[in-house]
Amino acid sequence: MTIQIINGPNLNLLGVREPSVYGSTSFDDFLPCLRACFPDVQIDYFQSNIEGELIDKLQDVGFQCGGIVLNAGAYTHTSIALADCIRAISAPVVEVHISNVHQREAFRHQSMIAAACRGVICGFGLDSYRLAIESFKP
Ligand code: DQA
Repeated sequence: MTIQIINGPNLNLLGVREPSVYGSTSFDDFLPCLRACFPDVQIDYFQSNIEGELIDKLQDVGFQCGGIVLNAGAYTHTSIALADCIRAISAPVVEVHISNVHQREAFRHQSMIAAACRGVICGFGLDSYRLAIESFKP
């Protein structure tokens, strides 16, 4: 099974960005640990700060991979285009957040993409990604 992780804006700064909220581990350091948890799963990774590039990637992999783990960052709260794209593809998408968005500012309580996703996992730090991949296991 192939799982595609897609990270949106500012998630390239994990480890540096607001460590009290997002922790002090970079995604590049975390990825080998995540892959070690799932030796039978091919985990591909993509990050972009650009909304259109996230949509291009979803369209690119969204008809062939087994599932998509999407942390759309702040686009979660704004992007109808991402929601439409998730509805357009056939692969199931799990929305993921590192922080518990419901404990934060009110504007983070709304997700434009959640209704289009299979489920939502948030608030478990980087472990949110592992839990999302776990949900795709047969
Ligand atoms: C985030 C939460 C979003 O509200 C925020 O804009 C992010 C990161 C998270 O992983 O906790 O960029 O998606």
